[in-house]
Amino acid sequence: MKALVLSGGAGTRLRPFSHSMPKQLIPIANRPVLEHVLDKVRELGVSEVGVIVGDRSAQIVAAIGDGSRLGLKVTYIHQDEPRGLAHCVVLAREFLGDDDFVMYLGDNMLPDGVTDIAREFTQERPAAQVVVHKVADPRSFGVAELDRDGRIERLVEKPAEPRSDLALIGVYFFTPAIHEAVGAISPSARGELEITDAVQWLVTQGAQVTASEYSGYWKDTGRVDDVLECNSKLLEGVVSSVQGEVDAASELIGPVVVDKGARVLASRIVGPVIVGAGTTVEHSRIGPNTSIGVDCVLRHTSIGSSIVLEGAQVTGVQGLHGSLIGRMACVGEAEGPAPHHRLVVGDHTRIEVAA
Ligand code: DAU
Repeated sequence: MKALVLSGGAGTRLRPFSHSMPKQLIPIANRPVLEHVLDKVRELGVSEVGVIVGDRSAQIVAAIGDGSRLGLKVTYIHQDEPRGLAHCVVLAREFLGDDDFVMYLGDNMLPDGVTDIAREFTQERPAAQVVVHKVADPRSFGVAELDRDGRIERLVEKPAEPRSDLALIGVYFFTPAIHEAVGAISPSARGELEITDAVQWLVTQGAQVTASEYSGYWKDTGRVDDVLECNSKLLEGVVSSVQGEVDAASELIGPVVVDKGARVLASRIVGPVIVGAGTTVEHSRIGPNTSIGVDCVLRHTSIGSSIVLEGAQVTGVQGLHGSLIGRMACVGEAEGPAPHHRLVVGDHTRIEVAA
């Protein structure tokens, strides 16, 4: 079996980050979402992976390379514009050949893995097998309607009035039968070739299409709040490890990782927290549920339930919570005496001030 991982797309719901980086590179527990995804693909015993990339391909190639660091052989497939999930299958035709494959959305986190479902697919080989999960509000997802025996009757993309609470959660197993299906459908109202329509086409043709329910933790990391929630969830698995420096005036409570070259001075950290390599934390309170990336500086600051990306600096700010701070961003005190607050805020940025 091969894998097709979708890492193009626009990521408009993750602005302002998606103005400068592909959403699949947002770090969760200090590793890009895409790396977590590729780990899960490798767990299925797959080694050949096609990765669909869009106009931010250079950053993805720089992060993932040829995949060997992750035990994979990665082939990049370029998509000129986000023309839909089924369009990605069309583009990958040559890479996929006549092999069965798992299609995995590069922004969906299923940390509990889908190895059991993959085994079922390999044994039964239905034309397509989708992975579903019960959600409270399915309107922003593809939705599967099943008959009494669990066979798929209908798939609908983002229905206004869902007739089931089973959302498609970004992992699909296909035999080569899908290639005829993606060739047979037309773009949807939003102008995309929808994979739900292609799978629905197989259902209509009488092909065997099954659904397997995933009961573990799942998150589509398409929005900031989802990224933060997913970060907290993954940090639950953190095991304490201190490779950097922690001075005698500091206190670490609970699971805390202090990576190589990081310095924690006169600070209190309540885990789960990861402090990335080369970062300085001084006179600050960090945590819980917080990831600080590499080469950051936090001084006279308190922050919890947040993610700070590489190279950011936060100084003299108390009570930060639920924040996502971008690469090389500077938040905090003016350098000299200043009569005003001063903001240099990028497009689509959100700043919320406590009343
Ligand atoms: O998160 C699960 C949902 O993902 C499913 O329930 C829906 O049925 C499915 O259509 C999809 O909906 P989204 O609107 O969330 O898809 P999104 O545009 O976020 O794209 C999902 C991933 O695929 C993301 O990593 C970007 C990538 N992508 C997307 C498109 C449209 C591409 O690589 N190329 C594309 O053309």
